[in-house]
Amino acid sequence: MRKTTTRLRLAGALAALLLSAGAPVAQADEQEPPTLAELAQRHGRYFGSATDNPELTDEPYKAVLGTEFDMITPGNGMKWYATEPQQGVFDFSKGDEIVNLARANHQRVRGHTLVWHSQLPGWLTSRAWTADELRAVLKKHIQTEVRHYKGRIYAWDVVNEAFNEDGTYRETIFYKTLGPGYIADALRWAHQADPKAALYLNDYNVEGIGPKSDAYHQLVKELKAQGVPIDGFGLQAHLALQYGYPSTLEDNLRRFSRLGLDTALTEVDVRMYVPADEAKLAMQAQWYRDMTEACLAVRRCVGITLWDYTDKYSWIPAFFEGEGAALPWDEQLEPKPAYFAIREALK
Ligand code: G3I
Repeated sequence: MRKTTTRLRLAGALAALLLSAGAPVAQADEQEPPTLAELAQRHGRYFGSATDNPELTDEPYKAVLGTEFDMITPGNGMKWYATEPQQGVFDFSKGDEIVNLARANHQRVRGHTLVWHSQLPGWLTSRAWTADELRAVLKKHIQTEVRHYKGRIYAWDVVNEAFNEDGTYRETIFYKTLGPGYIADALRWAHQADPKAALYLNDYNVEGIGPKSDAYHQLVKELKAQGVPIDGFGLQAHLALQYGYPSTLEDNLRRFSRLGLDTALTEVDVRMYVPADEAKLAMQAQWYRDMTEACLAVRRCVGITLWDYTDKYSWIPAFFEGEGAALPWDEQLEPKPAYFAIREALK
């Protein structure tokens, strides 16, 4: 019922668009328009969205989540604080809820994230560890989680946000205690636990070519030379209108492809100062179009994931005062110009 309502609403919006372009509307009225996932699949790509457990009581939200996308990322439910709240005590209920929903909707899942400096449990951050102790803790965490989801995760963000803006290593608890080798170890341990899952490094502000993406390029080269299992590089793509579009995105994707890696846009949003207006929404739509086209232009860019699809559940307003309106659907779950721009890019 909800599915039909959403589809009809989209069909109506598309018909209005076609009408304003002077096109005949009969077909658009009669046929269900293809979803973003279906359009992306025609290019051998996926189109995904993040979601979070508290949102899953919102039925209209769930209807669009379940139809428009073919890849889902849990926004928080698979992070360390959620999955190992006490040392050695694992809780996969939040991740399981999302994996089960995705499976019911015939969607794949990106696992996010095994090693990150943020959202760590208190027991891990509130004491000092020797290198041997922390290595054992890290290995157990990674392998228990990856084993739990074995066969059900398309790709893992194994290490998230490992570098600073200038390309130096971020001084996380893992780096400070274990040195840079923790990244290769994490990848190896994850591979042992699920040899079929694709393994990614993932970060923000790496969309364009610059010191931070250069650091990943260099690291991937070294990891590959050492035979460390690494399959992909995730570019989060949290963009902001006031900082300009990363015009070297396509070249950047291409240079990682040449290292033999898949790439993906993993957490896309385009924020702006609110209130939104027509000009800002038009520019935002253009950026979504450009990002989609950049991914389609590079064979090994395998897909795009929005960091949730609606402004109703965006992380932006809570983190950046005065900013928002970052996603292709508004707070009422109505598609914005960005949504239609993505569709056009996928056609
Ligand atoms: O769970 C508590 C809840 O009990 C409490 O009542 C509430 C009050 O603030 O907070 C809840 O925790 C929040 C948590 O999300 C779950 O909703 C945290 O405050 C909040 O900080 C946390 O934000 C998440 C953020 O990562 C943390 O850095 C966002 O939802 C999540 O979308 C965001 O995702 C990250 C990616 O993992 C990595 N890349 C950047 C991206 C955006 O920051």
